[in-house]
Amino acid sequence: MDNIEVKSFMPRIGDQAPDFEAVTTKGKIKFSEFAKDKWVVMFSHPADFTPVCTTEMSGFANRKSEFDALNTELIGLSIDSIHAHLGWVNNVKENTGVYFDFPIIADLDMKVSKLYGMLQPNESETAAVRAVFFIDPSKKIRLIMYYPLNVGRNMDEILRALEALQTSDKYKVAMPLDWKKGDKVIVPPPKTLEEMEARLKDDTLEKVDWYLAKKEIAG
Ligand code: BEZ
Repeated sequence: MDNIEVKSFMPRIGDQAPDFEAVTTKGKIKFSEFAKDKWVVMFSHPADFTPVCTTEMSGFANRKSEFDALNTELIGLSIDSIHAHLGWVNNVKENTGVYFDFPIIADLDMKVSKLYGMLQPNESETAAVRAVFFIDPSKKIRLIMYYPLNVGRNMDEILRALEALQTSDKYKVAMPLDWKKGDKVIVPPPKTLEEMEARLKDDTLEKVDWYLAKKEIAG
């Protein structure tokens, strides 16, 4: 099939999160004023009343207290009306007892989806893909995930990635493969010969060599 012209913008890691106003299940919001001094995890789903989306949204709802503990607000989005969102939230609550207690954007005009590259027409022309944007308190985009319509996301990985970003910022370190809370972290490699010599003599670190060294962090 020929490529369809993609009119949506693709934000990148390091960009300022595009600002927007939107109608949500918790009222109107202006993104630049939403969640001041907090992290935001913004995620899109293809459609209300669909099975994979219901499992994912329930996953966010069930683990909301873990996002709260990480000073992070959740905000969902799909190209459905506010009435569809309200009906779906109520339906899931009645069927399973799970309540989606975070704003879900009703992006009927696709304005926000296009701003965030959530519309990927070769995957679907009418539904947002499963995107996750990790946005820091300065409203900078720090990590982006895009999943197709037919594969649900992994809540452990979303939380792990969020905690890794926050820990990296706090301790000025990097996170190795499969890092999780409590594991050792990577000390940034030396940038000068002097720093390299000092690193080689440093016995407090777990070292493979001067360029790969790990340390424990508190908490
Ligand atoms: C789902 O959430 O189950 C779904 C939504 C759109 C396309 C395929 C699956």
